[in-house]
Amino acid sequence: MAPSPTLLLLLFLLSLTSPIFTSYASSASFLAGNDAQKKTTYIVQVQPDSKPSIFPTHKDWYESSLSALSGTTPLPPAETTGRIIHTYSTVLHGFSAKLSPSEAQALGSHPHVLSLIPEQVRHVQTTRSPQFLGLKTTDSAGLLKESDFGSDLVIGVIDTGIWPERKSFNDRGLGPVPSKWKGRCVASKDFPPSSCNRKLIGANFFCAGYESTNGKMNETTEYRSPRDSDGHGTHTSSIAAGRYVFPASTLGYAHGVAAGMAPKARLAAYKVCWNAGCYDSDILAAFDAAVADGVDVISLSVGGVVVPYYLDAIAIGAFGAADAGIFVSASAGNGGPGGLTVTNVAPWVTTVGAGTIDRDFPADVKLGNGETIRGASVYSGPGLSPGRMYPLVYGGNAQGGAGGAGDGYSSSLCLEGSLDPNFVKGKIVLCDRGINSRAAKGDVVKKAGGVGMILANGVFDGEGLVADCHVLPATAVGASGGDDIRKYISADSKSLPVATIIFKGTRVGVRPAPVVASFSARGPNPETPEILKPDLIAPGLNILAAWPDRVGPSGIPSDKRRTEFNILSGTSMACPHVSGLAALLKASHPDWSPAAIRSALMTTAYTVDKRGGETMLDESTGNVSTVLDFGSGHVHPEKAMDPGLVYDLLSHDYVDFLCNCNYTTKNIQGITRKTADCSGARRFGHVGNLNYPSMSAVFQQYGKHKISTHFIRTVTNVGDPNSVYQVTIRPPAGMMVTVKPDKLVFRRVGQKLNFLVRVQARAVKLSPGSSSVKSGSIVWSDGKHNVTSPLLVTMQQPL
Ligand SMILES: *[C@@H]1O[C@H](CO)[C@@H](O)[C@H](O)[C@H]1NC(C)=O
Ligand SMILES: *[C@@H]1O[C@H](CO)[C@@H](O)[C@H](O)[C@H]1NC(C)=O
Ligand SMILES: *[C@@H]1O[C@H](CO)[C@@H](O)[C@H](O)[C@H]1NC(C)=O
Ligand SMILES: *[C@@H]1O[C@H](CO)[C@@H](O)[C@H](O)[C@H]1NC(C)=O
Repeated sequence: MAPSPTLLLLLFLLSLTSPIFTSYASSASFLAGNDAQKKTTYIVQVQPDSKPSIFPTHKDWYESSLSALSGTTPLPPAETTGRIIHTYSTVLHGFSAKLSPSEAQALGSHPHVLSLIPEQVRHVQTTRSPQFLGLKTTDSAGLLKESDFGSDLVIGVIDTGIWPERKSFNDRGLGPVPSKWKGRCVASKDFPPSSCNRKLIGANFFCAGYESTNGKMNETTEYRSPRDSDGHGTHTSSIAAGRYVFPASTLGYAHGVAAGMAPKARLAAYKVCWNAGCYDSDILAAFDAAVADGVDVISLSVGGVVVPYYLDAIAIGAFGAADAGIFVSASAGNGGPGGLTVTNVAPWVTTVGAGTIDRDFPADVKLGNGETIRGASVYSGPGLSPGRMYPLVYGGNAQGGAGGAGDGYSSSLCLEGSLDPNFVKGKIVLCDRGINSRAAKGDVVKKAGGVGMILANGVFDGEGLVADCHVLPATAVGASGGDDIRKYISADSKSLPVATIIFKGTRVGVRPAPVVASFSARGPNPETPEILKPDLIAPGLNILAAWPDRVGPSGIPSDKRRTEFNILSGTSMACPHVSGLAALLKASHPDWSPAAIRSALMTTAYTVDKRGGETMLDESTGNVSTVLDFGSGHVHPEKAMDPGLVYDLLSHDYVDFLCNCNYTTKNIQGITRKTADCSGARRFGHVGNLNYPSMSAVFQQYGKHKISTHFIRTVTNVGDPNSVYQVTIRPPAGMMVTVKPDKLVFRRVGQKLNFLVRVQARAVKLSPGSSSVKSGSIVWSDGKHNVTSPLLVTMQQPL
């Protein structure tokens, strides 16, 4: 219903004269001279119950307040609408709009405005992983059977959309759409209503925020609909909940049965990521819709910015979801292997890093000097001639003697236009990683007439190998392999450097596995070091899953190949594994909270690889990895089904946590939508007392000799009614850890018991600004269940 012109004028006058929303009067003159100020998008949170009754809807109120901000004369009705990008009413109350700095200031000073959050732009970060995870389809018991493959659960995937025609999304044999479902299938010319079915039960898209910054999208390069023109969302959706598809492969690689984690769970696609990225205002609109629609799990393989939780649209949206009982898993990010790189760190989000599985795609480089360098690739197509060696050049030398087109830097990275065809024609080219995509480098080499490419990791990438569907014969090698090849090329030798690439196809049963993937983002948690992040790892390297017809498997525009499945790597692929598993766990334990599900996944995770008892390695170095790399460890779904005890958390626990973060009550309300009483929490608690399944203490050594802290935890019995748990403490090296009591006697299911962990340490010698990290663990065991929490202690020497 459109308000009548009279009503609009009335609304406008009201907003001029009343202090209901904007402090218009005081800011009018300030605003007038600043029309030229650049407008940027803000998410504006308002007090939910402060809407004057004169406004039929919140949107009317918001629009009228905005028009009051923007001019001194009443605007015609048409002008007063349309500044609102989205309104929000579920995970937060408010709206998003483009504001000049002075408008933002005027709005922000009003008492009914809780906060103004500057928009951030985020980015998107199988046949074998179900087997690797031990999900058995043939047993009469087990997680898949107990959860009926997740059939009544709905997983909302906030991503780049979906390609609905893929076999992974067929609805054969599925029951009716769950009755609680309130979502929609938003149709458009390239997404007819028939795109949804009993598998894909909802589809929606959110682009107002994207378009308000970038202008109208170009509909020849992307779809204005839930349809996926990128591939990422189709891939992640099918990892979470793809049906069984046989045969599946990518160009012959990874041949077998493709299946998601919860093959019968329903999917709802919320498209928020577009060619220029994923905008906060749209992401929040997707959270708002998903929670109102009735999803059970939200899967978010998007991220990239760490800011305080009250300024973090993902943290705010995820809180609203968790508060409604929805499990939210998010990718940790691909900024590894360096420390402090983990993102999506809010404690109500399950933060997922990436590990390898026991499958790889070897494609080794053979050099003219006889040396073989380990590589990986899923290239398929006309190959190099067997037994023949090809001239080998380094892209970075293109400018050198050969008179290359580019500078040494851009040509070593094989950027568009940087390679001289005279220099590379008929040769294998060594390119360094960075700036453009790995597959795009292959395209550059191919266009310049090269016959093959070797892609070398930089020192920061380490030794991790990511296999890609290249457009020419190409392979990836580690940093040290790249060094060896460069040395060989530049060596003063009588014969010219030559090489070939030997593609060995798909190899399974690879040991060791899992290994922490090089790119997987690492702790410590930059926002709250007392909460260990990532929480856990799941398969994320070289994962086979569904792929749209719109894009070739390399993802580059010139790639005309089409495949139903594609192999991708990233924490983006790890996250939906956990989303699907959470759906299975929720199906078999409908009364578990999101925190209980996460606890079950974390306390049963393993930290050793399948060689038998050795701590998982780190792909980037080949060395042993740590809790900062894998959190609680690698998911173990069948064990997570029966964890014995859980560390549960409800919204009020998170409020206490936020109080102990020393946030203002206004900031806390911006996250929780409720006014917080922090007096109790601040008197008794500290950040580390959040009832989290892992424990992390951070000590500042201000010249003290002995330092101590404690954690209070509460465990809930979800195992046998009568059970007795004994504690096993593995203290971090050189520290003393006690747990009281050391025995927990349960008499019924659902019973909660508390314990106290005290950690004492001696100050260690550290140079100013440096830190020392040690880890141990606390395990509760009743002989049937091991409930394991990592214990991390960081000693910091202040500057
Ligand atoms: C849209 O993209 C196509 C393909 O890149 C291009 O040819 C066309 O000029 C673009 N249109 C607009 C309006 O930018
Ligand atoms: C890996 O381990 C080796 C041998 O213990 C050590 O020399 C090297 O510094 C380690 N590398 C990293 C990055 O920790
Ligand atoms: C909050 O403030 C208290 C008192 O100043 C301080 O001890 C504590 O370390 C602060 N907590 C955080 C997380 O900054
Ligand atoms: C619990 O951990 C101990 C020590 O690592 C191990 O021997 C035992 O088999 C584990 N029990 C279960 C049920 O996993």
